[in-house]
Amino acid sequence: MTPAPILEARDLSRTFRVRGGNLHALSEVSLSCSPGRSIGIVGESGCGKTTLNRLLLQLDRPTSGEVLFRGVPLPRLDTAGRHAYRRAVQPVFQNPYSSLSPRMRVRNIIAEPLLATGTATRAEAWRRVDEVLEQVGLSARAGDRVPSEFSGGQRQRIAIARALASRPELLLLDEPVSSQDISIQAQILNLLKDLRAEYGLATLFVSHNLATVRFMCDEVVVIYLGRIVERGPAARICTAPQHPYTRALLAAALPADPDAHADTTPPMGELPSPLSPPPGCPYNPRCPHARDICRAERPALASRHDGLVACHVAHEGGI
Ligand SMILES: Nc1ncnc2c1ncn2[C@@H]1O[C@H](COP(=O)(O)OP(=O)(O)OP(=O)(O)O)[C@@H](O)[C@H]1O
Ligand SMILES: [Mg+2]
Repeated sequence: MTPAPILEARDLSRTFRVRGGNLHALSEVSLSCSPGRSIGIVGESGCGKTTLNRLLLQLDRPTSGEVLFRGVPLPRLDTAGRHAYRRAVQPVFQNPYSSLSPRMRVRNIIAEPLLATGTATRAEAWRRVDEVLEQVGLSARAGDRVPSEFSGGQRQRIAIARALASRPELLLLDEPVSSQDISIQAQILNLLKDLRAEYGLATLFVSHNLATVRFMCDEVVVIYLGRIVERGPAARICTAPQHPYTRALLAAALPADPDAHADTTPPMGELPSPLSPPPGCPYNPRCPHARDICRAERPALASRHDGLVACHVAHEGGI
């Protein structure tokens, strides 16, 4: 039996009222984060990845649909439930320059989630701070300093230490390395993998890069203009993608991969505006395989092989 999910998104949609109309940032997205599992969310800039992450973190509210923590919709959590959620689900954001208060001592930054949920006394919190600082490769002395004394990579280690302090069950990572130099990126990704194994953590890892997601995740969810277009096991998605958009992302991320399909090309043309998504399949204006039905009807997200795909051509037998 699969264990009960920690966090679940059910039919999540978020529309922003902007000048010019309704911007559909996220549409009918469902997924679940189960203990120990790692899900990657991948898609181009503007496809809704951060919008999804913010809804899961309750930093924003859905227009429709819901987020459930251990089966309970977030707005219906009681005080104990809210504390359990704050302890169990921890974020790591893209930019540690804006996510960490620059003049607060590192010790206080890391202890904050522990003290805010009343899970630790001050003495316990300080001991835990020293422990997590060492786990992320910094010395306990770093606790006495402030973030502005550290490099970008070290600041991201501090952000990870803060996320780990409360012994969470699920980390929500939104492009956690894309603001770092390439050499630092690999170190942080490896650190995250080690910590995940050590703590038995579940992770939701948001990235525009399918190669990074393949390295980090068991399962991949591909979003395009706010909708899931494909999901499945990471290894299969990266060797036998079913959706033309996934193929294009793969070509962009792994140009030299001998396992990649030969006919892949990076996504053609501009991303359409989420203010006026194209009729039919949202990918049809850029899709080299588009047929009449693709311009007329939006394909349903339906089972194919060991995953889900929303593509008329894939459902009719493949590309
Ligand atoms: N508060 C907001 N008000 C209006 N539009 C918004 C708001 N937040 C996001 N959007 C729009 O919603 C869409 C999805 O944005 P989102 O930030 O979720 O994309 P993303 O996949 O995280 O992109 P990136 O890879 O650049 O981080 C974009 O068109 C964006 O302009
Ligand atoms: Mg984003």
